[in-house]
Amino acid sequence: MTDIVYLNGEFIAKEHAKISVLDRGFLFADGVYEVIPVYRKTPFRSKQHLTRLFDSLKKIDLPSPFDEQRWLDLIDEVVALNVEHLGENQSIYLQVTRGSEPYRQHQVMAKPKPSVLIMSSTLKDSAQTLTPQRATLMEDIRWLHCDIKSIALLANTLLINRAKAQGFDEAILYRDNELTEGASSNVFVVKSDKIYTPPKSQFILGGITRDLIIELCLQHGLEVYQQRIHIEELPEADEIWICSSTREISPIVAIDDKIIGSGEIGPLTTRISSALQDFKSQLL
Ligand code: PDD
Repeated sequence: MTDIVYLNGEFIAKEHAKISVLDRGFLFADGVYEVIPVYRKTPFRSKQHLTRLFDSLKKIDLPSPFDEQRWLDLIDEVVALNVEHLGENQSIYLQVTRGSEPYRQHQVMAKPKPSVLIMSSTLKDSAQTLTPQRATLMEDIRWLHCDIKSIALLANTLLINRAKAQGFDEAILYRDNELTEGASSNVFVVKSDKIYTPPKSQFILGGITRDLIIELCLQHGLEVYQQRIHIEELPEADEIWICSSTREISPIVAIDDKIIGSGEIGPLTTRISSALQDFKSQLL
C-alpha cells in the first residue's frame, strides 16, 4: 500500500505528488516545516507545533495558508488515510514554501501561492527503550536564525553525515565555544543532580520536546537551568541526553573519545524518559 500525502489541495499517492521546478522551496529552500509525532492517531502537542509553525512563517514574512483548525483537520486526514499501513503511531512532516513564480529570481515579484505538503511515516513504538548513543562535537556552521524551522538544512545534513561517517550517532554543536544543540535535537546536561540546557535564542530551535522536558523536570521537583554551557564543561557532565519529537530522549554516553559519567544510561535520563512516557500515556 502506498503512502497518501496532501499536496496543494489534493490527497494523492506519494509517487504522484509532484512540485514545480520553479517552486521557491526547491530553488531557494524558501520555506519552513514541522515534524509532529502522532501517537494512537492523535497528534502530540499539536498546538505547540502549530504555534511554532506560525512563528517560523511570521519570521520569513509568509502568511499561513491555513488557520489552526484547518491544519489540524488536514493532519488528521493524512493520519487516517495512512493508518492501515503505517500504523497508529506516525510522524507527520509538513512544509510550507513560498510557492512558484514564472522564472527563477531572488526577489519575490508577484504574490505566489504557498505550496503545502503534508506527509507521514511510521513512528517507532512510543514505549521507547533507551539506546545509548555516541556524539561528536562539531562547530556549528549554520546561519544565525536557527530558531526558524527552515527547510534550508544543508549545514545540518552535512554535519550529521560527517558525524555518521565517523561512526557517531549525532553531532553536538558549539558556537564560540558554547553548546548550541544537536544537528537535529536539543541537548541537556546533568551535573551534580542539576539539569542544564542552553537558553532559547536565535542559535537554537526552541524544541517542543525540550519545553516539555523542562515542564516535567519542574513537576518532579528537579532543578533545571536554561543557561549557557561552555564546551569545556561537557566532559565533566554526569549525564547528557538529546531530545526531539521523533527520537524523544536519547542518552549520550560518550562525546568523541570521552566517556560521559559512568558510560551507561544515567538515573536522571531514565527518570525523565519515564516521566515523558507517563505524560504521554495519561494523554492518550
Ligand atoms: N528536528 N533542534 C533541531 C536543529 C532540530 O532539527 C530538532 C527537531 C530539534 C528538536 O525539536 P522538537 O523537539 O520540536 O522535535 C531541535 C526534527 C525532528 C526534524 O528535523 O526531523
